Amino acid sequence: MPITKLRPTYTFTEDRLKELESVVPEAFADGKINWDTLQEALGEHLEEPDAEHFGLSWPGKREARRLASIPSRGTLVPLPGQGVDEDTTRNIFIEGENLEVLKLLQKSYAGRVQVIYIDPPYNTGGDFIYSDDFSEPLEAYLRRTGQADEKGELLTTNTRADGRFHSNWLSMMYPRLRLARALLTEDGAIFVSIDDNEYHHCKCLMDEVFGPERYLATFVWQSRDTPGNDAKGVSTTHNYVLAYSRSDAFRVRRLPRTKKQLQNYKNPDNDPRGPWLGTPLTRGEFRPRDYYPLTNPAGQKVLPPEGSSWRRPRDVIEKLERDNRIWWGRDGTSTFPFIKQYLSEVKEGVVPTTWWDYKFAGSTRRSRKEIKELFGGRRGFETPKPLDLMRRILQIASQPDAIVLDFFAGSATMAQAVMLFNREDGGHRHFLMVQLPEPTGDSDLPTIAEIGKDRIRRAILHMRTEDEGSFDMPPDGNLGFRCYRLDRSHFKAWRDYQGQDLDTVQTRFDQFESPLVDGWQLQDLLTEILLIEGFSLDSAVTRQPAFTHNNVHLVTSDFHDHRLFVCLDPTIDDATVDQLDLTTNDVFVCLDAALTDQSKMRLSDACNLKVI
Ligand SMILES: C[S@@+](CC[C@H](N)C(=O)[O-])C[C@H]1O[C@@H](n2cnc3c(N)ncnc32)[C@H](O)[C@@H]1O
Repeated sequence: MPITKLRPTYTFTEDRLKELESVVPEAFADGKINWDTLQEALGEHLEEPDAEHFGLSWPGKREARRLASIPSRGTLVPLPGQGVDEDTTRNIFIEGENLEVLKLLQKSYAGRVQVIYIDPPYNTGGDFIYSDDFSEPLEAYLRRTGQADEKGELLTTNTRADGRFHSNWLSMMYPRLRLARALLTEDGAIFVSIDDNEYHHCKCLMDEVFGPERYLATFVWQSRDTPGNDAKGVSTTHNYVLAYSRSDAFRVRRLPRTKKQLQNYKNPDNDPRGPWLGTPLTRGEFRPRDYYPLTNPAGQKVLPPEGSSWRRPRDVIEKLERDNRIWWGRDGTSTFPFIKQYLSEVKEGVVPTTWWDYKFAGSTRRSRKEIKELFGGRRGFETPKPLDLMRRILQIASQPDAIVLDFFAGSATMAQAVMLFNREDGGHRHFLMVQLPEPTGDSDLPTIAEIGKDRIRRAILHMRTEDEGSFDMPPDGNLGFRCYRLDRSHFKAWRDYQGQDLDTVQTRFDQFESPLVDGWQLQDLLTEILLIEGFSLDSAVTRQPAFTHNNVHLVTSDFHDHRLFVCLDPTIDDATVDQLDLTTNDVFVCLDAALTDQSKMRLSDACNLKVI
């Protein structure tokens, strides 16, 4: 196999190009598109250049679209010691700007996230909105967070006075939604919290990104449990949760019946089929065909009340009667019969509705109380969502082993909800939280990212204290998390080059004797390699003690059949090469200078060898 140079690539555009190439191969030559051939292939389906068309448009849309495909020059570096049970957990918290982070996750999480929930700024007129820098997004972020030379504001207020008030918000949302879509599993879905300020634009935007046919519902959440009498005009007591699926494969999960609903099923006649619920046999509409006399067990002839008819034709009812499925009251003399609907025969659970009452989905008042209690009475964060709202989303959308992503994580309510819901139903979902280190002005928890992490730590401690002595402890790894931070890549050319031309970056890589920055750290570079190779952050990374001459790490993941071996020592001993037991699908990554020509030949025969 040829030896490959390992370089950072994040493939949002590449993947889409590959898809296009598989459909229209004739329009591709050496990875480049022949525009004329593509146009010919699409023929009559091409729109006239100046044709009018229906859709959402705003100033800045083209730039926003381009922003989604500018590759990130960053990477994620681990923050050991900031999480809980870091070695056993698959839960992840990432501190960073979500557009950059979503780009970095494209390769390793594409098609793997089953539920995305986001609660972006609602654009109320005083909201802080991250203003993307189109020329060098990562550098701008690092400057703003004080990780580069100048400090600066992370977020700017988007006011109604700004002529681009709605456009700014749409331009912020558009590339993030595009990238988010690529991460969803085929049976996945996305839920977006929003209110009247941007609901209508958000719906159009989601229609464009996900397709109108993927629209699932707009859930109306009763966010206030009391009317706001101080409101000017009408008091708004609801928000929305807008939901879209990734494909037809998504199935809404039914909700378990509540105790009250179960209590409606009774068994007054000791029917061996168990408790049942009676539904009237009459329908409030006259249909001549279904108007005929029935005889009750007491021998009386019974007709449907005037203006109505029986719900079923005669032969069906006779069959039901023979099977003891009609209820004529305890003594059989009723003139108002019911059809028995057995609990054992009805579909599991009830269909969710679009009305989300504060009694089961929580209110903003309750969410503030929840976070305040967790933080020992201190007010932690102003705009958290209630745990029960998150729970409802998990209930209707998440499989027990789902990855749940929230990339506007705030105080990480969703992370806590995932852990609680796992405990409730025995699942082992894991969470992926992304949150900007937005300053809070509080010296104890100086950024919202710190609030999020602290909330997760506190929630874990709380759950563990509650669980102590219980035999129903959740499976290992559910109660823990690992932290990462967005930073520059360890690859020199990648971090220094300011343009967008990938060929130029490639040439620059080749010009460097070592493409790595000075002072790189093993664990940090390992994480970057993992992401470049498309392994997710929850992959198992283990140092292999059997190798005594070199430091060899093995990376494995449920999502890859092949294994990734990494050795970043300056020289690799022949004994290590002898000892490596590789298959042709396995990838081995090392420094270019670490291998002799002979070892390179041997390894490239045995596996997929990639050098830095
Ligand atoms: C409304 S809050 C989310 C609250 C959250 N649902 C909760 O329950 O705590 C929105 C969060 O998104 C964060 N945010 C805004 N722009 C961001 C960006 N570009 N990247 C990451 N986080 C961002 C803000 O700092 C804010 O904390």
